[in-house]
Amino acid sequence: MDREKVDLTGAPATMLATLYSKAVDSRAPDSVLHDETAARAVDRIEYDFSRTGLRERDGISAVVRSKEFDRRAQAVLDRHAELTVLHLGCGLDTRVYRLDPPSTVAWYDIDYPEVIELRRRLYPERPGLRMIGSSVTDPVLLADIPGDRPVLVIMEGVTLYLRTAEGLATFRRVVEHFPAGTLIFDGYSSAGIWVQQRTGVVKASGSRLEWAIDDPGELAREVPGLVFDQEWWFPGPADLRAHYPWAQRQVLRALFASPFKRLGRGLTYHFGSAS
Ligand SMILES: C[S@@+](CC[C@H](N)C(=O)[O-])C[C@H]1O[C@@H](n2cnc3c(N)ncnc32)[C@H](O)[C@@H]1O
Repeated sequence: MDREKVDLTGAPATMLATLYSKAVDSRAPDSVLHDETAARAVDRIEYDFSRTGLRERDGISAVVRSKEFDRRAQAVLDRHAELTVLHLGCGLDTRVYRLDPPSTVAWYDIDYPEVIELRRRLYPERPGLRMIGSSVTDPVLLADIPGDRPVLVIMEGVTLYLRTAEGLATFRRVVEHFPAGTLIFDGYSSAGIWVQQRTGVVKASGSRLEWAIDDPGELAREVPGLVFDQEWWFPGPADLRAHYPWAQRQVLRALFASPFKRLGRGLTYHFGSAS
């Protein structure tokens, strides 16, 4: 089997950590995601995964976060037979294979060109799936994507790598391009950005973080038409019980009930009539 040599730095390197977490999880007896496609991809990649800076406890957090994103994305897919999905900053995540949407769903996996090149070598094509190698903040990104249907925007582990002004401009373009849509992403408070910058995967990648989201209402004020729906935390109560040791459960429960609960959390917004 030919192995793919990988040499990435900065934000693109961080996707190797989330991919690796899913591969490790798939081999666990109590696997959360059962992502065998991720495991096969890791087997094909020639890379020393210890370079990602992934700490053991971060692995399970990445996996339960993905599971919660899957659940929320599936709920939107269930409501719309015809939908455009923009999976922005998809990295090597295998969401489209995990959720297996019908071919009436136009699914776009979008990340930097070097990431998409690797994706194309690792993962099969499927009806309805397109891959675009581009920055997600490129002003012309949407030019070739039909804006005639509702959109689901999924951005997992991505906002923190974007410049604030570019991230907001990207959301404005999405709202102008599509008639209606749902946006699901994770956002980090100023304190969360401070912590992430100095630890684990982000530190190892050498990325410079900027976009802090302290008040979810601010995005709705900055992006005309965008409506804030909900903040949500991962792991949720069931995953906490099932996958975290007692001591870590207590720490996370205390954190989620404290003023620091916005260090990192999920956010859902909508515009138009879709929700
Ligand atoms: C932590 S990884 C998350 C990958 C994937 N969403 C997951 O959950 O496994 C961050 C991803 O964001 C991508 N990214 C960051 N800034 C980007 C940008 N401006 N344009 C395209 N992709 C970007 C990186 O290349 C990387 O794949």
